[in-house]
Amino acid sequence: MTLGILKESDGEQRVAITPDAVPGLLKLGFQKVLVERGAGASASLDDATYEKQGAEVADTEDVLKNSNVLAKIHPLSKSALGKLSAGQILIGQMSPLNQPEVVENMLQAGITAFSLDLAPRTTRAQALDVLSSMATVAGYKAVLSAAYHLPTFFPMFMTAAGTIKPAKVLILGAGVAGLQAISTARRLGAVVEAFDVRAAAKEEVLSLGAKFVEVEGAVDDKSAGGYAVEQTEEFKQRQAQLVHDHAVQSDVVICTAQIPGRKAPLLLRADTVAAMKAGAVIVDLAASSGGNCEVTQNGKTISHKGVTVIGDSNLAASIPKDASLMFGKNVVNFLKLIVIKGELNLNFEDDIVAATCIAHKGEVVSARLKQVMQTA
Ligand code: NAI
Repeated sequence: MTLGILKESDGEQRVAITPDAVPGLLKLGFQKVLVERGAGASASLDDATYEKQGAEVADTEDVLKNSNVLAKIHPLSKSALGKLSAGQILIGQMSPLNQPEVVENMLQAGITAFSLDLAPRTTRAQALDVLSSMATVAGYKAVLSAAYHLPTFFPMFMTAAGTIKPAKVLILGAGVAGLQAISTARRLGAVVEAFDVRAAAKEEVLSLGAKFVEVEGAVDDKSAGGYAVEQTEEFKQRQAQLVHDHAVQSDVVICTAQIPGRKAPLLLRADTVAAMKAGAVIVDLAASSGGNCEVTQNGKTISHKGVTVIGDSNLAASIPKDASLMFGKNVVNFLKLIVIKGELNLNFEDDIVAATCIAHKGEVVSARLKQVMQTA
């Protein structure tokens, strides 16, 4: 069996598998690892480093045609899919819940595709959870980006020239990205508060030394597999007021709140942004799904009434080497479930294999994706 590592496009700097993972793949039973020429270049990983670890460098067509299993973070283009044949396997992070056309393309191509962002939130799935890995990177980088744009310091300073107050940081959504943002902001010396609708988040926020901002009466659905669920209108109004009160006191707001397959909840209204301190910074990691902030523009950094608003849902790509390293480890851990003694073993009785499979023999396998596609 041959594994192919494809180069990303559209300015994406990461790569799905890094050179250090190649020996493990050969040990897993792949006879050959083909890497598309220049695949790791933007992540500071050159072809020679892949070769040193046992991979072969090849052209795009060669990798597409001769690999049984292909790894690429973003979905393959329709034209590249057209070069694949039925039975080939593609692994990546394809956001199928928000991109039904991607699923249609895979089904038409007759390939088997696994999107690791659909992994269940179980202990066993943690090792291959690309959402967690990338959220860790994004949460960290969001704080650094805010610090870079902020006209003031993060830490408190007591100097002969006077005392500098520490920055106040408000984190909206205390999931993986939010918790990493809390740790990073605390390490930089900020005073941090966080807010989430899941009751379970409170303990985690407090354990990281931040204050938990609480709105009573949230719908906390235990059957949602660790994800947040849509809230009532009455709750949303009370929440908006509380977020407003805390945001106007803050120097930085990091927005991370998401509901999978849905538009991101609107938590920061335009009038709240207008009432924030001059020079304050908002980083909206939910930008690609509508944003938590009303004035966010996806993929842009704007100034709104003196507040800098950074709309970036792909911040993980801005630390490409380590983000690729983490992504690659997730892919290899997934491969351990479907490659046994060098042979492909697609066991759809395995909850992780079934949950992540978006296309197989022209059918959608993932129950969650099927449900979203039916209700769309
Ligand atoms: P996410 O990216 O889907 O959402 C980010 C955060 O926003 C979540 O904490 C969510 O509760 C919050 N949120 C959603 N709507 C909100 C609203 N209206 N107001 C305020 N906050 C709102 O979630 P993420 O970060 O992927 O993880 C959520 C939970 O799942 C965490 O407890 C995490 O530890 C757990 N998890 C478990 C995994 C596993 O066991 N394999 C893997 C990844 C996460």
